[in-house]
Amino acid sequence: MLVIGHRGSTVDRPENTMPSFARALEAGADGFEFDVQLSADGAPVVIHDETVDRTTDGSGSVAGLEAAGLRRLDAGSWFDPVFAGLRLPLLDELLAEFSDRCTLNLELKTEQADLALVERCLAAVNRHEALETVVFSSFSWDCLQLLRERSSAARVGVLYVPDKEEGAFEAAATLGAATLHPHVSAVDKKLMARCRKAGLDIWTWNANDEAEVRRLRDLGVAAVFSDDPAAAVAALTN
Ligand code: G3P
Ligand code: CA
Repeated sequence: MLVIGHRGSTVDRPENTMPSFARALEAGADGFEFDVQLSADGAPVVIHDETVDRTTDGSGSVAGLEAAGLRRLDAGSWFDPVFAGLRLPLLDELLAEFSDRCTLNLELKTEQADLALVERCLAAVNRHEALETVVFSSFSWDCLQLLRERSSAARVGVLYVPDKEEGAFEAAATLGAATLHPHVSAVDKKLMARCRKAGLDIWTWNANDEAEVRRLRDLGVAAVFSDDPAAAVAALTN
């Protein structure tokens, strides 16, 4: 079972920052997950929330700020003063550093069919020749459809919340997805059997304690996301 750092290694680094991603790999993770949105001037920027308020020293919506302004923000101090001065990563910067090192899960962080986001992310991934190492996921299946229409080779994972299981299976079939990304609470023998029948692997979020990680491994889950990739790796090796 693969261990994927959720936004990097968020137990000990500020989420969605370069040190968080590096830490996940140091901890033995096979890769990491991150969230991408567009700045006001169309640059793909790595950040989870719609606003910068929680994870930087700034305020306002990501979509309302230009890349240069976003890059001036401090994305580390909110977590711990020792990380003062960390910048929000640009997708290009992340891919330059990590795309030949590990599995990457790029979450298109939108609830709508956002063509600009899809095209800019796909262009960046292609520029870095990373189409084989990046799995694109999104709660917006319309967004994944736009991606599929533009790349038959892109690896697609269908993210969903537990009450959307039926739709997720249909979307996975339509999209030619290889993976389903349910919450851990939805993963049981029944779901595993259904996925096996449909030829889908499960990448599930998030497991942070050892017993849960082992439960998922024993069920046959292909990948687990964790905020604490070191603990997840330890659960599988001890
Ligand atoms: O990809 C799994 C997980 O990242 C989805 O939830 O809110 O952490 O982006 P969220
Ligand atoms: Ca995410």
